[in-house]
Amino acid sequence: MTSTLLPGDVIWRNGRIATLNPAIDTPYGLLEHHDLLVRDGAIVAVTPALTHPHCQVIDLQGRLVTPGLIDCHTHLVYGGNRAKEWEQRLNGVSYQHISAQGGGINATVNATRGTSAQRLQQQAQPRLTALMAEGVTTIEVKSGYGLNLDGEEKMLRVARQLAAENPIEVTTTLLAAHATPPEYKGDPDGYIDYVCETILPTLCQQHLVDAVDVFCESVGFTLAQTERVFAAAQALGIPVKGHVEQLSHLGGAALVGQYKGLSADHIEYLDEQGVLALQRAGTVAVLLPGAFYFLRETQRPPVDLLRKYHVPMAVATDINPGTSPFASLHLAMNMACVQFGLTPEEAWAGVTRHAARALGRQHTHGQLAAGFVADFIVWDAENPVEMVYEPCRNPLFSRVYRGAAHYPQGQS
Ligand code: NIG
Ligand code: FE
Repeated sequence: MTSTLLPGDVIWRNGRIATLNPAIDTPYGLLEHHDLLVRDGAIVAVTPALTHPHCQVIDLQGRLVTPGLIDCHTHLVYGGNRAKEWEQRLNGVSYQHISAQGGGINATVNATRGTSAQRLQQQAQPRLTALMAEGVTTIEVKSGYGLNLDGEEKMLRVARQLAAENPIEVTTTLLAAHATPPEYKGDPDGYIDYVCETILPTLCQQHLVDAVDVFCESVGFTLAQTERVFAAAQALGIPVKGHVEQLSHLGGAALVGQYKGLSADHIEYLDEQGVLALQRAGTVAVLLPGAFYFLRETQRPPVDLLRKYHVPMAVATDINPGTSPFASLHLAMNMACVQFGLTPEEAWAGVTRHAARALGRQHTHGQLAAGFVADFIVWDAENPVEMVYEPCRNPLFSRVYRGAAHYPQGQS
């Protein structure tokens, strides 16, 4: 199979291929002087020196190659910004207090409801462009700032439209249970009824929902409310994930595990029982160091326990206007190392193969191996640690999505 070349195949010759394949026993799964054989947007082989009578050959000239990066937790689509609120917070007002006063998530809900789909897309595009320029080839985008049928649908359609207009794969997550909207103030259970009976089934039917998420927190929804949403999603065959144990410990991660969820995200307050629940379920722990930094949190996620029980750790930007206004996955990797003590290799696994698992795409995305998509990045760098160590210098040489190369302006 590997050496049977077909016309139309492309050989990417002589790379230093950081495969991120855990079966390869070198740091980053690195293979020196290897070729990537690409056919129809997928990798057919990673092998030394292929012969190439009829194929196109692209010389990598010994450059470093990694899988395309995967940002598995974002709120990329939103209206407005919350700069004034941030200033308030620096003047001593807490996130919880601002949220109780109708600010926080609901401030962005107002702004998002009042912005047209076209405008939301225009505003999201530069954030997406910044992530793509760093080598992101797959991104998850959540709803959660509409909080009614029209608003949630609008956000998810914008996410799908961004996918249609950019060389990037977008997965969509319904986060209708992000906060109780003003119409349901004082009646979160009534809102959860509306989510389970109307928003979720309607948007699933329109094929807009790849996964379902809930903000399980004192300023979000209780464990019982979260479970109702998870049960409704499960009944529709949609996988779940959760914003859990971010500001306090409610047991949301164990609940995600119980539902064999894709990922438990934030998890600063996760305890050993919760870690064990993730291990048993094969659920990914998604670390969001941007939100930790921006909220000036002090409670760190239990990285040693996650390592001890071999729970895969992903790293994502969580880009959103309230708690993580950064469109940089390189910076998120750096923060995961500096703030949470990940190694650079763990940070890389966190934005490739473990992030793929958090999106249910671990068999096709996040590694460079036969059978995986041909999404990869060619770098002007010696070692993958450089992108983590120096997050504001971007040594991306070219970005390859489904086998097609995109060069930053000025290169070719
Ligand atoms: O991931 N934790 C809840 N949701 C977002 C924050 C959203 C917001 O403040 O607008 C987060 O941090
Ligand atoms: Fe989030």
